[in-house]
Amino acid sequence: MDTNKLIFERLDKKHFELLKSFQCCQKDLGDFLVDDAIPNQKKGISVTYMFFSKEKKFVGYVSILTDNLNLNADLKGYFKQKEDIHYKSLPALKIGRLAVDDRYARQGVGTEMVYFSIYLAEQIYGNYCGCRFITLDAKRDSKNDTTHFYKKLGFKVYKERQKGSVPMYLDLWLRSDIKKSKKN
Ligand SMILES: CC(C)(COP(=O)(O)OP(=O)(O)OC[C@H]1O[C@@H](n2cnc3c(N)ncnc32)[C@H](O)[C@@H]1OP(=O)(O)O)[C@@H](O)C(=O)NCCC(=O)NCCS
Repeated sequence: MDTNKLIFERLDKKHFELLKSFQCCQKDLGDFLVDDAIPNQKKGISVTYMFFSKEKKFVGYVSILTDNLNLNADLKGYFKQKEDIHYKSLPALKIGRLAVDDRYARQGVGTEMVYFSIYLAEQIYGNYCGCRFITLDAKRDSKNDTTHFYKKLGFKVYKERQKGSVPMYLDLWLRSDIKKSKKN
């Protein structure tokens, strides 16, 4: 699949029938799409973006909301040497759900949807309001450990867990630092 040609649409009620066609090995990720994505969007809880291949196949989705990272509990000591920050928490954008249809897995769709989320966070960070991190809970069980997928994209674990949801973050400031140093 040519992932440069993926198209995204903000979830709308016109997509309802399409939501049922989504096939995902993680049942809760399919159920969320059918049962919760539209109501949550109406209630201001999350916004879902649907991704389509250039052949107009529905290949994946990402649901996004806001979050904050507690600097005492979640990232204790993180800013001690790096920056003089004295707040208890810092704002974040959270990837609440992210899933690729099983028929299109391992073709780069998940990676593109994470890049899209980073792009969105950088737009917010650069133009609209504070947004220091991207957060998410990666799924880990005996068969599947998605932390590897997110680590490849620069995310770090902030609460190690053997199974279940593993909380991870990406520091957007470090990314902007990298960009600045590339320009100079
Ligand atoms: C995990 C998931 C989002 C990855 O998306 P994808 O489009 O299949 O992944 P990509 O093709 O972009 O993968 C890029 C790289 O990430 C790594 N990767 C992808 N899926 C992985 C997984 N499940 N476990 C470990 N590493 C993984 C691989 O190194 C892969 O490169 P490779 O295929 O050349 O080895 C997708 O498979 C998915 O939706 N899985 C089911 C639902 C789920 O577990 N979602 C995550 C929790 S919300």
